[in-house]
Amino acid sequence: MNQEVAKFSRLGFVLSATGAAVGLGNIWKFPYITGVYGGGAFVMVYLVTILLIGASLLIAEMVIGKRGQKDCVSSFEELAPPRRKGWKYAGFLFVTGLVIMTFYSVVIGWIFYYIYLSFAGLPTTIEDAKEVFDNLYGHAPFLQISFHLISVLFVAVVLLGGIKKGIEKTNLILIPFLLFILLGLLAYATGFDGFGKALAFMFAPDFSKLNSEAIIRAVGHSFFTLSIGIGSIMTYAAALPKHSNLYKAGLMVAFMDTLIALIAGLVIFSFLFEFGGTPDKGPGLVFVSLPVIFAKLGTAGSVIALVFFLAMAVAGLTSAISLVEPTVMYLEDRLGWLRKKAVFWSSLLYFVIGVLVILSISDGFKAPLTFGEKSLFDLLEFSVDSFLMPLGGILIALFVGYVMKREIVEGELLGHMGKWVFRIWYFSIRYIAPVAVLFLAYTALNVE
Ligand code: TRP
Repeated sequence: MNQEVAKFSRLGFVLSATGAAVGLGNIWKFPYITGVYGGGAFVMVYLVTILLIGASLLIAEMVIGKRGQKDCVSSFEELAPPRRKGWKYAGFLFVTGLVIMTFYSVVIGWIFYYIYLSFAGLPTTIEDAKEVFDNLYGHAPFLQISFHLISVLFVAVVLLGGIKKGIEKTNLILIPFLLFILLGLLAYATGFDGFGKALAFMFAPDFSKLNSEAIIRAVGHSFFTLSIGIGSIMTYAAALPKHSNLYKAGLMVAFMDTLIALIAGLVIFSFLFEFGGTPDKGPGLVFVSLPVIFAKLGTAGSVIALVFFLAMAVAGLTSAISLVEPTVMYLEDRLGWLRKKAVFWSSLLYFVIGVLVILSISDGFKAPLTFGEKSLFDLLEFSVDSFLMPLGGILIALFVGYVMKREIVEGELLGHMGKWVFRIWYFSIRYIAPVAVLFLAYTALNVE
């Protein structure tokens, strides 16, 4: 192994992996699906899945990266026993990252637009807010493409710096900044009467509201939010120093990710209950309901809107970096490309498909980009949620549980976990996780 390859510091790794995990999933999606599926009971299912399956898979993915020390394909190849080298093809799960980026970057672009609106003036009524969002979403392809481009360029610049000077440095600055903003907003929200209502909404479970669709959504989201199954965490873990404690790092990342989702939820619902909005409005929660509330608060509201959307942009961008890095690393390691060239071509690829995604929801361009009922946007998101990510998750579980030598896995974890925790974890990886993921993929395909 090449000794000069840059390694993360311990804190740098935990913050970068937290940066990967904490994203739009936490601040945008988690609150809105919690709202749609009725609060407390949904949150419980989500927490249990994170604990039982999510955290185990996260640690399994770290084991492959840390032991393989290379890009995803080479890591699988290196760790597979001699006659099972075909497993290297599992490493191509990194392609999912680029697929996610074709729409993730578009949504980050929307956030940039709302940062601009916090200066230019927020909509003051729900009708206005809907119109502003609809105009952006369906009728302003060029505006969206410009913001999408800004996001692509930001990510590319960070990636050019590599692990140390790009990814680690960015996360060391941005993640504390994100935490600071969210804690500030939380402190502010605790002064509201709405805060108590938000607490009750999120933590007092009403199991009558729980249906099978809610459960599927909770399980699916626990994967997405922890960034499992596409090689992001694997690629980061490949740059860990030798004696890192994966158990601790994995738990820490899962904890931070969950904490931030819960804080974001509390902040958003406090504002909502305090100023008279309803929690079940779906994807428009953050883009339609919140801006109106912020607008009611005058100048203070503009400032709050600004920091809120900045936090969201930070969360999105640090995840975006992790979605592209596995591809860059593959092109660099395996095909011998210069990092510059790898960053350029992977960015260009998802930028162009992202443009098609934008056109697929824009009036006047939709028709050729709609397949059956679904726009290209929906189609890509759907294939990620119900197929590509579960596939990645299963491959990781099977590989660590059945293909890798048990001694290697033990060597990495036993010392840190102790015998019993290791046994439980290994059981979860061999039996619980694969079954749960299969069930998830199967039901997801049948529900939609
Ligand atoms: N976890 C991020 C979020 O919640 C998204 C993300 C980043 C991701 N990297 C990933 C999802 C890798 C799956 C796999 O927004």
